Amino acid sequence: MLEVCEVSKKFGSLVANNKISFNVEEGSIVGLIGPNGAGKTTLFNCITGMYRPTSGRVSFQGIDITNLPPYKVARLGAVRTFQIVHSLKEMSVFDNVLIGAYLREKNTEKARELTEQCIEICYLKKLRDNRAGDLAIGLQKRLELARALATNPKLLMLDECMAGLTSTEVNESVNLIKSLRDKGITFLIVEHIMEAVMPIADKVVVLNGGVKIAEDSPEAVVQDNRVIEAYLGQKYGKKCQLNSKERGK
Ligand SMILES: Nc1ncnc2c1ncn2[C@@H]1O[C@H](COP(=O)(O)OP(=O)(O)O)[C@@H](O)[C@H]1O
Ligand SMILES: [Mg+2]
Repeated sequence: MLEVCEVSKKFGSLVANNKISFNVEEGSIVGLIGPNGAGKTTLFNCITGMYRPTSGRVSFQGIDITNLPPYKVARLGAVRTFQIVHSLKEMSVFDNVLIGAYLREKNTEKARELTEQCIEICYLKKLRDNRAGDLAIGLQKRLELARALATNPKLLMLDECMAGLTSTEVNESVNLIKSLRDKGITFLIVEHIMEAVMPIADKVVVLNGGVKIAEDSPEAVVQDNRVIEAYLGQKYGKKCQLNSKERGK
């Protein structure tokens, strides 16, 4: 569904993305992980048209989107959230999501209906009339997810959407992502909370210093020495191996 082909992005002499290639299969959940500064957000920006890659190509459902502006990429159905929240703080939760709904639905009645549905699915119903700026930061990210969902996306790209959530809220988000995947939405997820991303990812792509250092199943990635050294650390690698043994894998 999404093909990233040899994408590079340079900022002066800094190579933030160095010839990165991978595919995201339709209906799958792909995790994109790596230490801070690895180039994850830059890659999201290159995919969604916020940045023009220095070289390489990105295609979505067979259409070359490399140099399309963000709104056109979103209209095709590849929609992202931001690591830094972009909610409109003075507006209500409902109105924030309604903006997303209007990207797809010009009929006011139908847009409002879609908005109500997305708010409910995203566990935000109780906060429906609250001012977005009054939500805890983690829930503002949830709101961004709800707004992205209201655009009726085919591919959702989430940039650290679980940071700042309580463990109950992380579980809600994990369940939410799984149920949306079951409804046919494809995911590319940047996430530092390994306990959240590893159990649901079909595949994990690991970046370090702008370079792709691994692309494999979660089970294989947690045992990859380069990934353990660059990012996961010995402790997490061991913990995961234990967990997968317990699960009988
Ligand atoms: N707009 C920019 N201008 C210059 N350097 C940037 C810009 N955006 C990101 N970088 C640099 O690119 C590298 C990768 O950053 P980023 O993609 O944000 O990493 P990650 O999301 O994996 O933490 C970092 O060294 C960062 O400082
Ligand atoms: Mg980032």
